[in-house]
Amino acid sequence: MTQSTTCWAVVPAAGAGKRMNADRPKQYLELAGKTVIEHTLSHLLQANVFAAISVAISAEDGYWPELELSTHSNIITAAGGKERADSVLSALTAIRAKASDDDWVLVHDAARPCITSADIHQLIDTLYQDKVGGILALPSHDTLKNVQGGAIVGTLDRNHIWRALTPQMFRYGLLKAALEAAVGNPAVTDEASAMELQGLQPKIVEGRPDNIKITRPEDLALAQFYLEQQNNG
Ligand code: CTP
Ligand code: MG
Repeated sequence: MTQSTTCWAVVPAAGAGKRMNADRPKQYLELAGKTVIEHTLSHLLQANVFAAISVAISAEDGYWPELELSTHSNIITAAGGKERADSVLSALTAIRAKASDDDWVLVHDAARPCITSADIHQLIDTLYQDKVGGILALPSHDTLKNVQGGAIVGTLDRNHIWRALTPQMFRYGLLKAALEAAVGNPAVTDEASAMELQGLQPKIVEGRPDNIKITRPEDLALAQFYLEQQNNG
């Protein structure tokens, strides 16, 4: 990788995982011998490109201090926030003394444990000279319908529809400003949407389909399958 600018990772991990319906936040569920968040952080460390990883953790979280990785020298613990964007902003603020405005930040969901070094390097290599940055995404294979009141009122042009994944890679200064401007806006469900509200146009980089987000109970078995495939391949 021909990389000159410093890269930081930010990991929002302060969600409650309501849709998972488990006895603990989903990032602490067991998956192939360790917790979901341990897979995620190990994969980010393995990529070997980040100056540090800033992780946003909820104040009520008693699981995080139990993990060995919580005291890793390249991992910084920040306070979680009410919404995902608040958590990301808090994790950015935690590295503000060390990061420069031009540095790259890759924001990656704790709930995406199957992220690969290949995807991280692909994103960085494609965008590191870009002014704004961009995100990993996947083209939509299904036909997508606009539905109102249980009936279809339109079909979206699939050629223009992509699914946003993480990491999402932006310049530290621009990202922090965009998230600060977007505080409290429910439409901002990822970093790219905060940048879009600033009139910017983040790029998309096609990612791997195994980079799934653990959202519902059935996703754990799928993630386990993908991790096994990665280890065999
Ligand atoms: N997240 C966060 N702070 C919040 C909400 C979410 O750091 N206030 C994190 C989650 O921990 C997760 C990522 O953002 O790693 C993506 O969010 P999502 O998949 O929605 O996780 P949860 O909010 O935990 O799940 P749910 O919406 O089902 O409650
Ligand atoms: Mg959520």
